[in-house]
Amino acid sequence: MIIVTGATGQFGSKTIDHLLKKGAEPSTISALVRDVKKAKRLADTGITLKAGDYNDHESLISAFKGVDKLLLVSSNDKEAFGNRTSQHLNVINAAKEAQVKQIIYTSFIRKPHFEDSAIAAFQNSHVQTEEALKASGINYTILQNGIYLEMIPIFVGDKVAETGTIMFPAQAGKASFVLREELAEAAAHVLLTESHENKVYQLTNTEAVTFDDIADALSIQLAKGVKYHSPTLNEFEMLLRKLGIPDLYIGMFTMWGTAVAQGTMDLEDNTLQTFLERKPTSMIQFINQTYG
Ligand SMILES: NC(=O)c1ccc[n+]([C@@H]2O[C@H](COP(=O)([O-])OP(=O)(O)OC[C@H]3O[C@@H](n4cnc5c(N)ncnc54)[C@H](OP(=O)(O)O)[C@@H]3O)[C@@H](O)[C@H]2O)c1
Repeated sequence: MIIVTGATGQFGSKTIDHLLKKGAEPSTISALVRDVKKAKRLADTGITLKAGDYNDHESLISAFKGVDKLLLVSSNDKEAFGNRTSQHLNVINAAKEAQVKQIIYTSFIRKPHFEDSAIAAFQNSHVQTEEALKASGINYTILQNGIYLEMIPIFVGDKVAETGTIMFPAQAGKASFVLREELAEAAAHVLLTESHENKVYQLTNTEAVTFDDIADALSIQLAKGVKYHSPTLNEFEMLLRKLGIPDLYIGMFTMWGTAVAQGTMDLEDNTLQTFLERKPTSMIQFINQTYG
């Protein structure tokens, strides 16, 4: 039996779609969901729904009974990275108690000296989860996922076609953006194939790109000159504040822009390509599909 957590979220639901597409029997798949009412589409596929919350130990134990492989989709708790870590530790402890045989965890790509980067606190949550997994005695597979291509429209803003301007403090930094859907497909591959025990995979694209590259791709697709400007952090924060963006999101945008500038996501790896048995969707293909 496989269980996928975060199953009403985007990554979890896409992973379940890929498990079914790859031929897994619905009776061998279960989904951990916080709100069963949100899971009608999943229920219609014939898989089993288990109600549970990362903060509720008992619900996790009962959901994990009889499970062989558990896909732990990292929490999206926005309040504090510490909340996220303790939720992940709850899942690992409950899995141990329920005698789950393997946990596959969606982590994030990491480079040496990440401790000094803008995303250090975010990374520490993943590091602590990975360490707890390794210490748990349960077989683990760590999927160090790259940054989603789907973050690009959020970073460039929804007015880019009108203004022809991207304002983002990423300087000339490169990032290896990947399609969430393809990371989910890779997770389904790992769940359905063998020999992934106690392995760590870096799942990135085969080519990292700059925001100048993104501006060039947008210029071609929109048939309009799009220019990229990297403001100072001060200018950027003032601009977002003027637009009425809440402080929590200003902090996140600034954090991600700085992390790209620092090159923390500038990694190129072929593992995802191997799992997909094709080249991952490139930034240019994504821009063409999204803005076409
Ligand atoms: N690589 C990247 O660029 C990138 C970007 C964004 C996020 N991420 C990480 O990847 C994860 C998956 O991405 P996504 O796009 O699928 O995010 P998402 O759509 O926000 O899904 C997150 C899932 O986590 C579930 N969840 C949150 N708190 C929970 C709790 N206390 N108990 C049980 N379930 C809980 C949510 O449940 P509900 O459906 O009930 O809300 C949701 O299903 C995110 O959570 C985040 O950690 C990675």
